[in-house]
Amino acid sequence: MRLLAPAKINLYLRVGPSMADGFHPLLTWMCTVGLFDTMDVSTQPAPSPQVLLHCSDPQLPTDGRNLVAKAASLFLDAFAIDASVYVVLQKKIPAGGGLGGGSSDAAAMLLGLRRAFDSEGSDEALAPLAAKLGSDVPFFLHGPSAVCKGRGEMVRAIAPPAPPWAMLILPPFGVATPEVYRRFDRMDLGREENVSVEPDWQTWSALPAAALMEKLVNDLEAPAFAVAPQLEVLRRDCERKLGRVVRMSGSGSTLFTLYDGREEAERDLEKIRSAELGSVIVETAP
Ligand code: C5P
Repeated sequence: MRLLAPAKINLYLRVGPSMADGFHPLLTWMCTVGLFDTMDVSTQPAPSPQVLLHCSDPQLPTDGRNLVAKAASLFLDAFAIDASVYVVLQKKIPAGGGLGGGSSDAAAMLLGLRRAFDSEGSDEALAPLAAKLGSDVPFFLHGPSAVCKGRGEMVRAIAPPAPPWAMLILPPFGVATPEVYRRFDRMDLGREENVSVEPDWQTWSALPAAALMEKLVNDLEAPAFAVAPQLEVLRRDCERKLGRVVRMSGSGSTLFTLYDGREEAERDLEKIRSAELGSVIVETAP
């Protein structure tokens, strides 16, 4: 079985004050983008189940710390399935980039195993497993465009953004999510109203690229730029060279801007192309 796991961008990301458990309430509009990890998965009946994972990226753990292995174990446990799972994971989505790669892999594994074991697990049964794995995992059970609230576990599908293309600007460094949230708290940026007022998504999703980019907000930009000042420099540099609004996805480090046409996007790519910067044009909500 071959599974495709898309990356996501947070088009809009608002963050409230930290809760008793240290997590932060979110209001975020996410959409998938056309950059995929692939997984080749096989299963075999086994009295003592195990999960064996090979990964193309030697930097990533392949033991129980990997979200894909966690997802497979959680699924087998939850539905009391005596089987082993073998996975070859080909990474294309950079880790630590705010593109939700690990979360998407985990969600694809849950959906793939459900298919492999002949529809074990309704959507309602998979949802708590996804929420347990991480804040972005529930979104990937739904995709391609949704508003997520709470810690990310409340997912509501909405129309995808009208601009069909995005430029992803991939810096050669990542930013650690927990550190960005800690900085967010230290900067005292959490406000209830950040997450309590929802924009008119229907209007927003119909806007052309430039008008939509003007409206987008990411509350994690200020703390991420405090943690990684070179990211703020890069953003300013890209905005100047492209003459358009550039935003950060998730807790960084990926930056993005949207396009109505592919040719314009490709032309812009040339303006910021450099050896150390991985930049790609991808479809939104592919
Ligand atoms: O759930 P996920 O693994 O993506 O979260 C990574 C870290 O980001 C958490 O350990 C927490 O420090 C922070 N976080 C948060 N509030 C959220 C989501 C993540 O504080 N809603």
